[in-house]
Amino acid sequence: MSVKKFIAANWKMNKGLVQSQQFAEEIRAYYEKHKISHIDIVLCPPYTSLEAVHRKINGSGIKLGAQNMHHESMGAYTGEICASMLKSCGAEYVIIGHSERRQYCNETNATINKKVLKALDEGLKPILCIGETLQEREDKITEGVIEEQLKSCLSHISEEQMESIVIAYEPVWAIGTGKNATPHQVESVHNFIRKKLKKMYPDDTAEKVRIIYGGSINPENAKELFALETINGGLIGGASLEVQSFIEIINSTH
Ligand code: 13P
Repeated sequence: MSVKKFIAANWKMNKGLVQSQQFAEEIRAYYEKHKISHIDIVLCPPYTSLEAVHRKINGSGIKLGAQNMHHESMGAYTGEICASMLKSCGAEYVIIGHSERRQYCNETNATINKKVLKALDEGLKPILCIGETLQEREDKITEGVIEEQLKSCLSHISEEQMESIVIAYEPVWAIGTGKNATPHQVESVHNFIRKKLKKMYPDDTAEKVRIIYGGSINPENAKELFALETINGGLIGGASLEVQSFIEIINSTH
């Protein structure tokens, strides 16, 4: 089964209001001029730019995502942001479980599962990030790590809910290092993820889930990665900060 490719820009802690709006305007102009409809494009700015970016892309077909959310619905959690707030800013997607949050904010598979459940409950589509560290790859336990992440993070997720989840395979050693995983390495893990999803869900559900790759994707390596049928798109960090390189990556999906 072939699924629609999915490219998301994760700006991480970059871009203020003005730069976010400018980027959104430029990408919208390109998107409309070239009538892009063969892939889903999602921009994930920092919280502070969500609403402004939404205004700029609203009605264009480009979608909005957030980079994180709290697992509770509301309440006394100073500094936190909940799913309904993201929705009120126009977000349709939310990145959950990024390795930087696992690493610096102590997120565990259990808290990530709570966030995925809450996002789905509130009508947001999770982009669930999983991936092994360099040590885990060297210890040859990549598949075990991935399997555990899938099982724990997707606990209590129904078949129907599963169809709105995008899985981002982001090996930690490839993020921000300039050292992308080879197409062969990505393909092998993506096949493993698909196989595990088929154990957890009916085949037709598992086949609809998009499995994308993230980690040092740039205009030079994107074409080779996206040429593979097992790679349903990308989650782009550094190379999504410049409109031109993001456009080149989008164009590599043809
Ligand atoms: P880089 O593309 O900068 O390696 O970041 C990948 C990433 O973490 C996307 O979420």
